[in-house]
Amino acid sequence: MLAFANTSANRFRFKNVNCGTLAVDDAGHRPCWLANLFRWEDTMGRQDHMEIKSLEDLLLQQLEGLYDAEARWLDQLPSVAECVENESLRSALAEQSAETSQQINRLENAFALTGLNPRRKRCEAMKGLIRECQQVVAAAADPHVKDAAVIAAIQKIKHYEIAAYGATRNFAMRCEQVGIADLMQQSLDEEGDADQALTSLAEKIVNANAARI
Ligand SMILES: [Fe+2]
Repeated sequence: MLAFANTSANRFRFKNVNCGTLAVDDAGHRPCWLANLFRWEDTMGRQDHMEIKSLEDLLLQQLEGLYDAEARWLDQLPSVAECVENESLRSALAEQSAETSQQINRLENAFALTGLNPRRKRCEAMKGLIRECQQVVAAAADPHVKDAAVIAAIQKIKHYEIAAYGATRNFAMRCEQVGIADLMQQSLDEEGDADQALTSLAEKIVNANAARI
């Protein structure tokens, strides 16, 4: 049954087959196994089915994904900052909060240039990267070693954002959306600077402290 429902074409065929009276009991309820299967189908459809109609559509979806990613990271930053030992790292995270708010503003300005309202598209990559960061924050570890691990987790997030902003800038250029490309470039530069600052902090202080444990 699972293999049968493994492609979107088959999913639709299966749905049609079960639209008749066999799909419900006398009270109008679906049998439990069928209700579960429909729920599974719905989940699969929402998560796996993606339609990209054009490069303009792709650009918009990139903006929506970044808008979601930045909002998620902004929510998370205070709890990460609370758990770090190194004062310079805590300051760097406070700076990141301010930059992330600014990047969200830029994305809202980019949406305004498209004539559409800002909208979030769930960013699975950022969800996973934040989950990993949360695991590091909650880990039983020496505080100095944990700081080193936190920097590594944040740099993975920075590298994801660098890739996303770079691609979005390029799509904007190709779509002749120069204003959006400029906004993406500003955030791309900020992400790159933040990544380099974290590398410097790790190499000069945090990793050295962790190595003494
Ligand atoms: Fe960011």
